[in-house]
Amino acid sequence: MATKLVVGNWKMNGTIPSSAALLEAFLKDIDLAAKTAVDVVVCPAFLSIARIRELIRFAPVKLGAQDVFWAESGAFTGKVSASMLSDAGVEFCIVGHSETRGRFGKLETPASTLGFFAETDETVNLKLKALLYQSITPILCVGETAAEREAGQTEAIIERQVSNALVGIDPAELYTFVIAYEPVWAIGTGNTCSADEAQRICHLIRGHIESCCGTDVAEMVRVLYGGSVKASNAKELFAQADIDGGLVGGASLDPYEFAQIVLAA
Ligand code: PGA
Repeated sequence: MATKLVVGNWKMNGTIPSSAALLEAFLKDIDLAAKTAVDVVVCPAFLSIARIRELIRFAPVKLGAQDVFWAESGAFTGKVSASMLSDAGVEFCIVGHSETRGRFGKLETPASTLGFFAETDETVNLKLKALLYQSITPILCVGETAAEREAGQTEAIIERQVSNALVGIDPAELYTFVIAYEPVWAIGTGNTCSADEAQRICHLIRGHIESCCGTDVAEMVRVLYGGSVKASNAKELFAQADIDGGLVGGASLDPYEFAQIVLAA
């Protein structure tokens, strides 16, 4: 069985000092859990990465980023490449989050601005390749919107997102891969997917990996659930056979709550 993994996605929150304070408070709360066999990753905003790297040097926490651009370098104003992330000590990177795909759980963004987010299956694939080239572990996010679920398209959407993301990637590169099932309607809304349903979709994802990449890879890939994970529901979710941990947004900004989620794992 794969080691459980809990990832905190801090999104666009925190100054450099407040991110450092959050990490330090979490490390204090998690003291005992440092002895447990759970992998913990935090994904701060880009500007806080260097400071968080210093603070986790001797802590059982790994560093993640929230996004990447696929080109190595060049005239791409405002972008950050996988080699820059690697240079900064980043070991994990979220790709294809519903927010970077322009799909929001509770839409507060004017429709006319959605193109700004506009991540596609193709850009997700390019980003995965760029990360793997730098030996950074991708955390690929997939998930359906409420409308897609109501239209009975959940399974088709998930399979499309997973298979398009993996086009042209050698299965041998996927042993350390992480896939997070994040139903868009559950992100930041407080509406958690039931543990049974999360298990059903995570099982579907693992089955899909098995058919395209073989049993060994399917057993090694870590499939996470994300979407309103809290201390109160983490235990039941993480107890499911195909759920290897969680991708946690809002609750990772509360050090005590995040520590409880890690303990649940
Ligand atoms: P949430 O976010 O835990 O706030 O729902 C999860 C995510 O977006 O990864």
